Amino acid sequence: MLKITGGNKLYGDVDIPGAKNSVLPIMSACLMNDAEVLLRGVPHISDCDAMSKILGIMGCRVVHSGSDMLISTRNATLSSISPLLAGEMRSSVFMLGPMLMRFKQAKLARPGGCDIGRRPIDIHLAGLRDMNVVVREDEEYVYCDASNIKPAEIYLQFPSVGATENLMMVACSAVGRSVIRNCAKEPEIVDLAKFLNSLGASIKGAGGHTIVVEGKGKTFNRSIIYTPIADRIVAGTYALACAMTGGELNVKGVKSEFFSSVLSKISKNSCYIKYYNDRINIISHARPHALDYVVTAPYPGFPTDMQSQMIAYLAIADGDSVMVENMFETRYRQVPQLVLMGADIKVDGARAYVRGVDKLHGAKVVATDLRGGASLVLAGLVAEGDTYLDGTHFLDRGYDRIDQVLSSLGAQIFRL
Ligand code: UD1
Repeated sequence: MLKITGGNKLYGDVDIPGAKNSVLPIMSACLMNDAEVLLRGVPHISDCDAMSKILGIMGCRVVHSGSDMLISTRNATLSSISPLLAGEMRSSVFMLGPMLMRFKQAKLARPGGCDIGRRPIDIHLAGLRDMNVVVREDEEYVYCDASNIKPAEIYLQFPSVGATENLMMVACSAVGRSVIRNCAKEPEIVDLAKFLNSLGASIKGAGGHTIVVEGKGKTFNRSIIYTPIADRIVAGTYALACAMTGGELNVKGVKSEFFSSVLSKISKNSCYIKYYNDRINIISHARPHALDYVVTAPYPGFPTDMQSQMIAYLAIADGDSVMVENMFETRYRQVPQLVLMGADIKVDGARAYVRGVDKLHGAKVVATDLRGGASLVLAGLVAEGDTYLDGTHFLDRGYDRIDQVLSSLGAQIFRL
């Protein structure tokens, strides 16, 4: 449980670690490589622990020491991913592509993760079938056989981040040219392609609509050192923390272009933002103003992973705002908790109508997903009195010691 006493402004520098959504697919992609990989800047978050556990079950060695992570897959053996493991984390689905390259087969329990919507994997599976992978499903498991895998032209029904990444990896196993269209364009996809290319893959076009993979059909065999990109969602969360509480932060190590959709919302609205080579300087100068509409969309649109935190910002803005969540069906689960803290928010389907209030007040609240938890932390930082936040294991999935970071910036936040 976290105890947060609101009211302190935040001042100082914050170093942003590697992005969860880059590190997880990159960790799984190590299975496509029969040599050691050293990853730098890896955050200490429980999703990385869960992925280490999955790799461990496959016979791989993962050593996470400081911010370095050494992964050796030399002794990898085929093993199925049980409901218990897959239930811990949606990203277990990233093992599909690498398992098919390494073993030509995969048996994976349906992936879990934060309960923010239905989260099917039909787009992943449709792409696999296009590549002639035999896919069978029952209630619990997905079974894949890639013995006769072939390159293909694939059109994604929706630009799914995970499906783009998985199919990019699967296409490396099919000898010849695969073309994936209507791809997601998130920076983490570009990062995964860069990582795979440094192992010896040939992937072009990542970050655009169409990705072309010249599959070589063989496991890679290259020892490399790689630093995944920094976490734009963690950076965005701390930027909003500064905007809400007041004060001045230097956000370091992350490219501003990766979260400009977030920075542009607070710039001029409540903050002055200056861009330097090595940092983004954010000075909060006013109480947040309402934003007419904030609409979540695939990158470079406003990220669904910042929606919950932005609602906390709008909850203390002057005026009325509307949030539209277009990506996940049940991503407003933290709203009743914010209401307990005095927020005035009404949810109607994909829309949340936020009437800003002068002050939030401390309360006993519970996080029910990762970003919802972050939004409650932000609310706690500005609330009058004490907030007790339960469900902190959700926060630990994606924020490396958020309490210590905020405390070093001047917040009153303690883990009980
Ligand atoms: C990734 C991110 C997550 C982020 C999300 C959207 C990782 C590890 N996680 O999740 O933090 O919130 O992108 O930016 O990178 N869909 C289908 N069928 C599929 C796949 C997806 O219908 O086979 C739907 C989903 O239910 C959702 C939408 O497509 O409504 C977007 O999902 P997707 O982009 O796949 O998200 P993830 O890869 O799961």
